[in-house]
Amino acid sequence: MHLGFIGTGTITAAILRGLKSSPHAGWPVTLSPRSAGLAARLAAELPHVTVAPDNQSVIDSAETVILAVRPQVAQTVLTGLHIRPDQTVISLIAATPAHHIAAWTSASRICRAIPLPFSQDRRDVVPVFPPLPEAMALFSALGRALAVDDQATFDLYAATSALMASYFGILETAAAWAVANGMQPADARTYLAGLFANLGHAALQSPLDLATLRVEHATRGGLNEQVFADFAAHGGTQALTAALDTILARIRG
Ligand SMILES: NC(=O)c1ccc[n+]([C@@H]2O[C@H](COP(=O)([O-])OP(=O)(O)OC[C@H]3O[C@@H](n4cnc5c(N)ncnc54)[C@H](OP(=O)(O)O)[C@@H]3O)[C@@H](O)[C@H]2O)c1
Repeated sequence: MHLGFIGTGTITAAILRGLKSSPHAGWPVTLSPRSAGLAARLAAELPHVTVAPDNQSVIDSAETVILAVRPQVAQTVLTGLHIRPDQTVISLIAATPAHHIAAWTSASRICRAIPLPFSQDRRDVVPVFPPLPEAMALFSALGRALAVDDQATFDLYAATSALMASYFGILETAAAWAVANGMQPADARTYLAGLFANLGHAALQSPLDLATLRVEHATRGGLNEQVFADFAAHGGTQALTAALDTILARIRG
Protein backbone atom coordinates (compact mmCIF):
# COMPACT_ATOMS: atom_id res chain seq x y z
CA MET A 1 0.00 0.00 0.00
CA HIS A 2 1.41 3.37 -1.04
CA LEU A 3 0.91 5.92 1.77
CA GLY A 4 0.93 9.69 1.32
CA PHE A 5 1.21 11.99 4.34
CA ILE A 6 -0.07 15.57 4.34
CA GLY A 7 1.83 17.01 7.32
CA THR A 8 5.31 15.80 8.26
CA GLY A 9 5.46 16.48 11.99
CA THR A 10 5.72 14.58 15.27
CA ILE A 11 3.03 11.98 14.70
CA THR A 12 3.97 11.31 11.06
CA ALA A 13 7.59 10.69 12.10
CA ALA A 14 6.48 8.26 14.83
CA ILE A 15 4.20 6.32 12.46
CA LEU A 16 6.84 6.21 9.76
CA ARG A 17 9.61 4.96 12.04
CA GLY A 18 7.27 2.28 13.43
CA LEU A 19 6.09 1.27 9.96
CA LYS A 20 9.65 0.94 8.67
CA SER A 21 10.54 -1.49 11.47
CA SER A 22 7.35 -3.54 10.84
CA PRO A 23 6.48 -6.32 8.39
CA HIS A 24 5.11 -3.51 6.12
CA ALA A 25 8.52 -1.83 5.82
CA GLY A 26 8.33 -2.20 2.04
CA TRP A 27 5.25 0.04 1.68
CA PRO A 28 6.27 3.15 -0.29
CA VAL A 29 5.66 6.48 1.43
CA THR A 30 5.40 10.00 0.01
CA LEU A 31 5.73 12.96 2.37
CA SER A 32 4.55 16.54 2.02
CA PRO A 33 7.39 19.08 1.74
CA ARG A 34 6.63 21.34 4.77
CA SER A 35 8.96 20.79 7.74
CA ALA A 36 11.59 20.29 5.06
CA GLY A 37 14.35 19.36 7.51
CA LEU A 38 12.39 16.52 9.14
CA ALA A 39 11.02 15.32 5.78
CA ALA A 40 14.56 15.18 4.33
CA ARG A 41 15.87 13.33 7.41
CA LEU A 42 13.10 10.72 7.24
CA ALA A 43 13.67 10.21 3.51
CA ALA A 44 17.42 9.78 4.07
CA GLU A 45 17.04 7.53 7.12
CA LEU A 46 14.24 5.19 5.95
CA PRO A 47 13.81 3.03 2.83
CA HIS A 48 11.16 3.78 0.16
CA VAL A 49 10.38 7.27 1.51
CA THR A 50 10.31 10.27 -0.83
CA VAL A 51 9.31 13.90 -0.48
CA ALA A 52 6.85 15.35 -3.01
CA PRO A 53 7.07 18.92 -4.34
CA ASP A 54 3.55 19.82 -3.13
CA ASN A 55 0.50 18.42 -1.32
CA GLN A 56 -1.50 17.50 -4.46
CA SER A 57 1.47 15.45 -5.70
CA VAL A 58 1.44 13.54 -2.38
CA ILE A 59 -2.23 12.68 -2.94
CA ASP A 60 -1.78 11.77 -6.60
CA SER A 61 1.02 9.32 -5.77
CA ALA A 62 -0.80 7.51 -2.94
CA GLU A 63 -3.47 4.87 -2.52
CA THR A 64 -4.07 5.89 1.10
CA VAL A 65 -3.73 9.50 2.23
CA ILE A 66 -2.96 10.25 5.88
CA LEU A 67 -3.91 13.71 7.10
CA ALA A 68 -1.58 14.89 9.89
CA VAL A 69 -1.78 18.67 10.01
CA ARG A 70 -2.95 20.63 13.05
CA PRO A 71 -6.70 21.27 13.39
CA GLN A 72 -6.18 25.06 13.32
CA VAL A 73 -4.80 24.98 9.76
CA ALA A 74 -6.69 21.95 8.41
CA GLN A 75 -9.33 23.82 6.44
CA THR A 76 -6.80 26.17 4.83
CA VAL A 77 -4.40 23.34 3.97
CA LEU A 78 -7.00 20.92 2.63
CA THR A 79 -9.41 23.18 0.77
CA GLY A 80 -8.70 22.93 -2.94
CA LEU A 81 -6.89 19.57 -2.74
CA HIS A 82 -8.60 16.82 -4.70
CA ILE A 83 -8.82 13.30 -3.25
CA ARG A 84 -10.40 10.75 -5.59
CA PRO A 85 -13.34 8.58 -4.41
CA ASP A 86 -11.24 5.42 -4.87
CA GLN A 87 -8.59 6.70 -2.43
CA THR A 88 -8.74 6.02 1.29
CA VAL A 89 -8.21 8.84 3.77
CA ILE A 90 -7.05 8.28 7.34
CA SER A 91 -7.48 11.53 9.24
CA LEU A 92 -5.48 12.00 12.44
CA ILE A 93 -6.69 15.59 12.81
CA ALA A 94 -8.16 16.06 16.28
CA ALA A 95 -11.74 17.27 16.75
CA THR A 96 -12.40 17.48 12.99
CA PRO A 97 -15.34 15.38 11.75
CA ALA A 98 -15.07 13.34 8.55
CA HIS A 99 -17.79 15.36 6.81
CA HIS A 100 -15.55 18.45 7.02
CA ILE A 101 -12.72 16.52 5.33
CA ALA A 102 -15.19 15.35 2.65
CA ALA A 103 -16.40 18.90 2.02
CA TRP A 104 -12.84 20.31 1.78
CA THR A 105 -11.30 17.60 -0.42
CA SER A 106 -14.15 15.67 -2.14
CA ALA A 107 -12.83 12.48 -0.52
CA SER A 108 -15.54 9.94 0.20
CA ARG A 109 -13.76 6.99 1.83
CA ILE A 110 -12.65 8.48 5.13
CA CYS A 111 -11.82 7.13 8.56
CA ARG A 112 -10.35 8.73 11.67
CA ALA A 113 -7.69 7.32 13.98
CA ILE A 114 -5.88 8.35 17.17
CA PRO A 115 -2.27 7.12 17.00
CA LEU A 116 0.13 8.38 19.67
CA PRO A 117 3.94 8.63 19.65
CA PHE A 118 4.10 4.99 20.91
CA SER A 119 3.55 4.00 17.26
CA GLN A 120 7.29 4.51 16.85
CA ASP A 121 8.00 1.50 19.12
CA ARG A 122 5.02 -0.43 17.73
CA ARG A 123 3.34 -0.45 21.15
CA ASP A 124 0.42 1.79 20.28
CA VAL A 125 -3.28 1.05 20.83
CA VAL A 126 -5.08 2.94 18.07
CA PRO A 127 -8.86 3.49 17.86
CA VAL A 128 -10.07 3.56 14.22
CA PHE A 129 -13.54 4.76 13.15
CA PRO A 130 -14.95 3.41 10.94
CA PRO A 131 -12.54 0.46 10.89
CA LEU A 132 -11.53 0.61 7.20
CA PRO A 133 -9.25 -2.35 6.38
CA GLU A 134 -6.36 -0.14 5.17
CA ALA A 135 -6.23 1.71 8.50
CA MET A 136 -6.64 -1.49 10.51
CA ALA A 137 -3.71 -3.05 8.58
CA LEU A 138 -1.50 0.00 9.18
CA PHE A 139 -2.17 0.38 12.89
CA SER A 140 -2.11 -3.38 13.60
CA ALA A 141 1.51 -3.23 12.43
CA LEU A 142 2.17 -0.42 14.94
CA GLY A 143 0.79 -2.31 17.95
CA ARG A 144 -2.93 -2.85 18.14
CA ALA A 145 -5.77 -1.36 16.08
CA LEU A 146 -9.12 -1.01 17.88
CA ALA A 147 -12.17 -1.17 15.60
CA VAL A 148 -14.70 1.50 16.63
CA ASP A 149 -18.19 1.29 15.17
CA ASP A 150 -19.76 4.61 16.15
CA GLN A 151 -18.82 8.26 16.39
CA ALA A 152 -19.94 8.63 20.01
CA THR A 153 -17.54 5.92 21.18
CA PHE A 154 -14.70 7.34 19.04
CA ASP A 155 -15.21 10.68 20.82
CA LEU A 156 -14.78 8.91 24.17
CA TYR A 157 -11.42 7.48 23.02
CA ALA A 158 -10.40 10.95 21.90
CA ALA A 159 -11.33 12.41 25.30
CA THR A 160 -9.47 9.74 27.28
CA SER A 161 -6.40 10.13 25.03
CA ALA A 162 -6.15 13.64 26.52
CA LEU A 163 -5.04 12.15 29.86
CA MET A 164 -1.37 11.92 28.87
CA ALA A 165 -0.25 15.24 30.35
CA SER A 166 -2.17 14.47 33.56
CA TYR A 167 -0.28 11.20 33.91
CA PHE A 168 3.02 13.08 33.80
CA GLY A 169 1.49 15.74 36.04
CA ILE A 170 0.82 13.09 38.72
CA LEU A 171 4.41 11.83 38.44
CA GLU A 172 5.70 15.40 38.52
CA THR A 173 3.64 16.27 41.61
CA ALA A 174 4.67 13.13 43.50
CA ALA A 175 8.35 13.53 42.53
CA ALA A 176 8.33 17.21 43.56
CA TRP A 177 6.83 16.23 46.92
CA ALA A 178 9.51 13.55 47.44
CA VAL A 179 12.29 15.99 46.46
CA ALA A 180 10.90 18.69 48.77
CA ASN A 181 11.14 16.12 51.54
CA GLY A 182 14.75 15.24 50.77
CA MET A 183 14.88 12.64 47.96
CA GLN A 184 17.32 13.13 45.06
CA PRO A 185 15.42 14.20 41.88
CA ALA A 186 16.94 11.40 39.75
CA ASP A 187 15.99 8.77 42.36
CA ALA A 188 12.42 10.11 42.59
CA ARG A 189 12.06 9.94 38.82
CA THR A 190 13.56 6.45 38.52
CA TYR A 191 11.40 5.07 41.29
CA LEU A 192 8.09 6.66 40.20
CA ALA A 193 8.59 5.94 36.49
CA GLY A 194 9.31 2.27 37.30
CA LEU A 195 6.33 2.05 39.67
CA PHE A 196 3.90 3.49 37.10
CA ALA A 197 5.34 1.43 34.23
CA ASN A 198 4.77 -1.74 36.26
CA LEU A 199 1.22 -0.62 37.13
CA GLY A 200 0.51 0.03 33.43
CA HIS A 201 1.80 -3.45 32.65
CA ALA A 202 -0.48 -4.93 35.33
CA ALA A 203 -3.50 -3.02 33.94
CA LEU A 204 -2.74 -4.36 30.43
CA GLN A 205 -2.05 -7.96 31.41
CA SER A 206 -4.41 -8.68 34.31
CA PRO A 207 -7.85 -10.22 33.68
CA LEU A 208 -9.21 -8.33 36.74
CA ASP A 209 -11.37 -5.22 36.29
CA LEU A 210 -9.91 -1.86 37.31
CA ALA A 211 -11.86 -1.47 40.56
CA THR A 212 -10.68 -4.93 41.64
CA LEU A 213 -7.10 -4.07 40.68
CA ARG A 214 -7.32 -0.96 42.86
CA VAL A 215 -8.56 -3.04 45.81
CA GLU A 216 -5.91 -5.72 45.11
CA HIS A 217 -3.22 -3.02 45.28
CA ALA A 218 -4.49 -1.68 48.62
CA THR A 219 -4.05 -3.60 51.85
CA ARG A 220 -7.14 -3.10 54.04
CA GLY A 221 -6.40 -0.23 56.38
CA GLY A 222 -3.01 0.22 54.62
CA LEU A 223 -1.20 3.13 52.99
CA ASN A 224 -2.49 2.71 49.42
CA GLU A 225 -6.09 2.52 50.59
CA GLN A 226 -5.62 5.74 52.59
CA VAL A 227 -4.03 7.69 49.72
CA PHE A 228 -6.84 6.86 47.29
CA ALA A 229 -9.52 7.60 49.94
CA ASP A 230 -7.89 11.00 50.63
CA PHE A 231 -7.53 11.70 46.88
CA ALA A 232 -11.24 10.95 46.31
CA ALA A 233 -12.37 12.80 49.46
CA HIS A 234 -10.49 15.94 48.37
CA GLY A 235 -12.20 15.95 44.98
CA GLY A 236 -9.51 14.17 42.91
CA THR A 237 -11.81 11.69 41.18
CA GLN A 238 -14.51 14.35 40.75
CA ALA A 239 -12.02 16.77 39.18
CA LEU A 240 -10.89 14.09 36.72
CA THR A 241 -14.46 13.23 35.73
CA ALA A 242 -15.32 16.92 35.29
CA ALA A 243 -12.23 17.47 33.12
CA LEU A 244 -13.23 14.54 30.88
CA ASP A 245 -16.78 15.94 30.58
CA THR A 246 -15.36 19.31 29.53
CA ILE A 247 -12.98 17.82 26.98
CA LEU A 248 -15.74 15.64 25.50
CA ALA A 249 -17.91 18.74 25.06
CA ARG A 250 -14.98 20.47 23.30
CA ILE A 251 -14.40 17.46 21.02
CA ARG A 252 -18.09 17.42 20.09
CA GLY A 253 -17.95 21.14 19.32
N1 LIG B 1 1.41 14.33 18.27
C1 LIG B 1 0.51 13.46 18.70
O1 LIG B 1 0.75 12.69 19.67
C2 LIG B 1 -0.84 13.33 18.03
C3 LIG B 1 -1.66 12.29 18.43
C4 LIG B 1 -2.88 12.11 17.78
C5 LIG B 1 -3.29 13.00 16.82
N2 LIG B 1 -2.48 14.03 16.48
C6 LIG B 1 -2.99 14.93 15.46
O2 LIG B 1 -2.11 14.87 14.34
C7 LIG B 1 -2.01 16.14 13.73
C8 LIG B 1 -0.54 16.52 13.65
O3 LIG B 1 -0.01 16.58 14.95
P1 LIG B 1 1.56 16.70 15.20
O4 LIG B 1 1.76 16.58 16.66
O5 LIG B 1 2.29 15.78 14.28
O6 LIG B 1 1.77 18.23 14.76
P2 LIG B 1 3.10 18.93 14.20
O7 LIG B 1 4.31 18.25 14.74
O8 LIG B 1 2.92 20.38 14.40
O9 LIG B 1 3.03 18.59 12.65
C9 LIG B 1 2.14 19.24 11.78
C10 LIG B 1 2.83 19.35 10.47
O10 LIG B 1 1.94 19.96 9.52
C11 LIG B 1 2.75 20.75 8.69
N3 LIG B 1 2.01 21.72 7.88
C12 LIG B 1 1.57 22.95 8.22
N4 LIG B 1 1.02 23.53 7.15
C13 LIG B 1 1.11 22.66 6.11
C14 LIG B 1 0.74 22.68 4.75
N5 LIG B 1 0.15 23.76 4.20
N6 LIG B 1 0.99 21.59 3.99
C15 LIG B 1 1.59 20.49 4.52
N7 LIG B 1 1.98 20.42 5.80
C16 LIG B 1 1.75 21.49 6.59
C17 LIG B 1 3.70 21.43 9.64
O11 LIG B 1 4.78 21.99 8.93
P3 LIG B 1 5.54 23.31 9.51
O12 LIG B 1 6.27 22.83 10.73
O13 LIG B 1 6.43 23.69 8.37
O14 LIG B 1 4.46 24.31 9.83
C18 LIG B 1 4.08 20.23 10.51
O15 LIG B 1 5.14 19.50 9.92
C19 LIG B 1 -2.84 17.11 14.59
O16 LIG B 1 -4.10 17.31 13.99
C20 LIG B 1 -3.01 16.40 15.89
O17 LIG B 1 -4.25 16.71 16.48
C21 LIG B 1 -1.26 14.21 17.05
